[in-house]
Amino acid sequence: MTRALRAAVIGCGNIADNHAAAYRDLTGVELVACTDVSPDRAERFAARHGTSAVGPDELFGLDLDLVSVCTPHPTHESVVTRAAAHGVHVLCEKPIAVELGSAARMVAACEAAGVALGVAFQRRFWPAAQRIRDAIDDGTLGTPVLGHASVLLHRDTSYYTADAWRGSWASDGGGVLMTQAVHNIDLLQWFMGDAVEVTANHTTVKHGEAIEVEDTAVATLRFASGGLATLAASTALTPGLGTRVRVLGGTGASAGLAEYPEGSEARIDVWAVPGAEAAESPFGPGFRADLTLPEINGSLAPLHTLQIVDFVNAVREDRDPAVTGREAAKSLAILTALYASAASGRPEQVPALKEEITS
Ligand SMILES: NC(=O)c1ccc[n+]([C@@H]2O[C@H](COP(=O)([O-])OP(=O)(O)OC[C@H]3O[C@@H](n4cnc5c(N)ncnc54)[C@H](O)[C@@H]3O)[C@@H](O)[C@H]2O)c1
Repeated sequence: MTRALRAAVIGCGNIADNHAAAYRDLTGVELVACTDVSPDRAERFAARHGTSAVGPDELFGLDLDLVSVCTPHPTHESVVTRAAAHGVHVLCEKPIAVELGSAARMVAACEAAGVALGVAFQRRFWPAAQRIRDAIDDGTLGTPVLGHASVLLHRDTSYYTADAWRGSWASDGGGVLMTQAVHNIDLLQWFMGDAVEVTANHTTVKHGEAIEVEDTAVATLRFASGGLATLAASTALTPGLGTRVRVLGGTGASAGLAEYPEGSEARIDVWAVPGAEAAESPFGPGFRADLTLPEINGSLAPLHTLQIVDFVNAVREDRDPAVTGREAAKSLAILTALYASAASGRPEQVPALKEEITS
């Protein structure tokens, strides 16, 4: 019998519970430890999940096989490269990093060490998202020619003030685009292929007293295939209207998914395929109050579990995880161009990670 994989969680904040719960419940995986720069947080987390809290320096003496990195985005590079240097496989939370050079160094460090680097884009594991991806692969939709993502969410100002790292360019890397819409940008590019050029505009309409980053943005994207997409994103809504991603394919057929309320499993709201047409309200049975942040994160747990199962199997089978560091860097490259375009007022090219790695 193969021995259990030894897992640990780094960063014991909001989203870390989803990772710990998945490791705890999986057979063949042992949640050996957790760590946090705040020892109190690590202790409370360890007690909740029946594991041991250790200091960051002790962690890599524990003969670990894999870690989940659940620290704020700007710290991902230092934590991930440290894990790689110890020969430990890494599943990192999204976004992979806040600048593309960081992502390139993370990918290069993991590739040089021969460890897997996965990035949590668990919304790809929605059955609705997989159905759309399959309909692209099997030709039902054809090559996507037009896409749209809307990310119309609610955040209380207290969300931004609760943790010191949120809401500044230096420590958060951006606002609604970087932290919330990155999931939908990832889905758009997963469906439509590599993006090559974008235009963007952003503003701060509601949370300006608490944050310097954007809470509202619009963008256009052009893809290598010739396809085009639009994006609208905001955390200024009360109540939020959830998220939607729609794709029109070259066959003329189109499909869309809706996540409402935020955090719930997305459903196909439009399936406009000749002979199989179906539609339902993106809001399901009706409007619902926004979930609290812990409820949103909690309802994402089954999807984190699906991605963690894939990651653990990738480590066991010595294959790439479903979302690699290189794949996750694509949404960061788009974000880099979106912020550049909003600053320059001009269309901007989407930079390639390959150039970053070799430069
Ligand atoms: N996949 C998703 O849907 C999803 C949802 C929420 C958050 N996230 C991502 O997860 C990450 C964490 O977000 P959060 O909301 O849980 O943040 P959080 O602030 O609640 O938790 C972060 C924790 O990391 C600790 N920490 C900071 N630097 C550290 C370091 N160098 N070493 C060890 N611990 C460190 C902090 O003390 C804190 O306890 C972010 O990148 C965020 O974008 C992803």
